[in-house]
Parts: sequence; structure tokens; C-alpha cells
Amino acid sequence: MKSYVVGNWKLNFTVGEASIYLHKLMRKIPNYRDLEVIVAPSTIALQPLSLQVDRHKIKLAAQNAFYRDYGAFTGETSFSQLRGIVDYAIIGHSERRYIFGERDKDIQKKVAGAIRNRITPILCIGETESERAFGETRDVIRDQLIGGLSEVSDDEIEKVIIAYEPVWAISSTKMKKLAMPEEVAEVTGLIKEILKEIYGGKVVEKVPILFGGSVNASNVGAYLTVPGVNGVLVGGASLILGEFNDIIEIAKRVRK
Ligand code: PGA
Repeated sequence: MKSYVVGNWKLNFTVGEASIYLHKLMRKIPNYRDLEVIVAPSTIALQPLSLQVDRHKIKLAAQNAFYRDYGAFTGETSFSQLRGIVDYAIIGHSERRYIFGERDKDIQKKVAGAIRNRITPILCIGETESERAFGETRDVIRDQLIGGLSEVSDDEIEKVIIAYEPVWAISSTKMKKLAMPEEVAEVTGLIKEILKEIYGGKVVEKVPILFGGSVNASNVGAYLTVPGVNGVLVGGASLILGEFNDIIEIAKRVRK
């Protein structure tokens, strides 16, 4: 299976800054056959960057989109409008869930909307700090996974990527808030178990699982060696070109 390094730029960079970053990153990295490098800029930058990007080296992802293809939905951008512009879409990121109130019933339609428009969904799931403290991690992961995938058929599941992002470990500057590799391994194992229950054993080897939560150049090697982890979703550290490039190089070495 391929490895994945995804940079989630969140609400950062003007279109001009995003373009310069992309230009520089394309000059730094070769065309990796078995490592997929993906960046997720703001929606406004996607169309211009799609004309600039060398898709052999880097793919574009949307950070979000709306599940209906067209209609009276003021302010939204649809997956159908993004078709051909992006190859991937991050869906159900915890900031969408907890700041913008997205629920599993919205997220499952978004996953289906992406697939319908030939965009690979990167479905994010993860427990909050209090859910972990109350011992609810397994239930939350199960609910979010089953909820998010409920419109995905047996034939379509191979077109989905799952990202495990414990909410308590996102954008953390404190050592104690970093997820331990053993904690990541436990949840990755659980995700595989649930996928197996729903879609059968063969699928488990075909659905990539990424880890996200304060991944940087110093810890990426440890996360990528966790059994069952096929890549990383990087927020803050992806905004620094040199560090993102280091992460890509480490990923290439670790997952040979
Ligand atoms: P972080 O963000 O790397 O800054 O923790 C990850 C994410 O939110 O996807």
C-alpha cells in the first residue's frame, strides 16, 4: 500500500502565498511513486493551484465541501464543483465537527458526495479529551466510523481513507498531550476491526489509515512505524515548508 503525507493548511495563506509555497515544494520533491504527497489549501486557492500543480508530485485536497451538487445553499461549494480540481477531500475534521457543528449525518453525506464526484474522502474521526477520560474512546470511534461510512458500499470502501485524529492531541504544544504510539496502535487496530466487521477481512488491507495530531519532523518517524498506520495528516507543521519537506523525506525513508 502507498504511504500518505497530507498537509492541512486550515485557514492560513493567501492565494499568492499558497502558490509560492506550492512552487517551492514542487522544486524540492521528486516524483515519489509509492508516497502520495497531498496539500489541502483554502477553497479559494484550489482552482488556481490546480492549474499550477504537477500532479505526479503533489495532489490537492479540499478541507471541506457541501454534499449537495447544486441548489439554494448560499455560501457553499460542492464536490461537483471541485471535481477535476482536487483528488482528495478532508471530511469530518474535528474543527468542522466542534466549531461548525457537523454531525455524522452530515459527514456521511459528504463522504458519499465526494465518492460520487470521484474525489477520495479522507474521513477524520477521533475522541475528545473528556471522552477519553471517561473511557468512551472505543464507542466514539465506532460511532463516528459507522456513521461516516453508512452510505459507502462494499465496492466503494476501497476509495476511502480514514484519519485517526484524537482531538486532544491536535495543535498541541505540550508533550503530555501528544498521543503515544501505543495509543495510536490501539485505535488503529480498533478501526481495522470495525472495518472488518462491516466490509469483511479483505478490505482491511486496502483502506489506508492516517494519524494526525501535532505531527512534526521529530515525531513523524515514530507514528509511521506504528503497525497499521499508512500515513500522517499534518496541520501546524505543514505550514513550514522546510519542516513539511523533512516530514516527506522521513516518510519516504521509514516506509520503504
Ligand atoms: P496539527 O493539526 O498537526 O496542527 O495538530 C492536525 C489536524 O488538525 O489535521
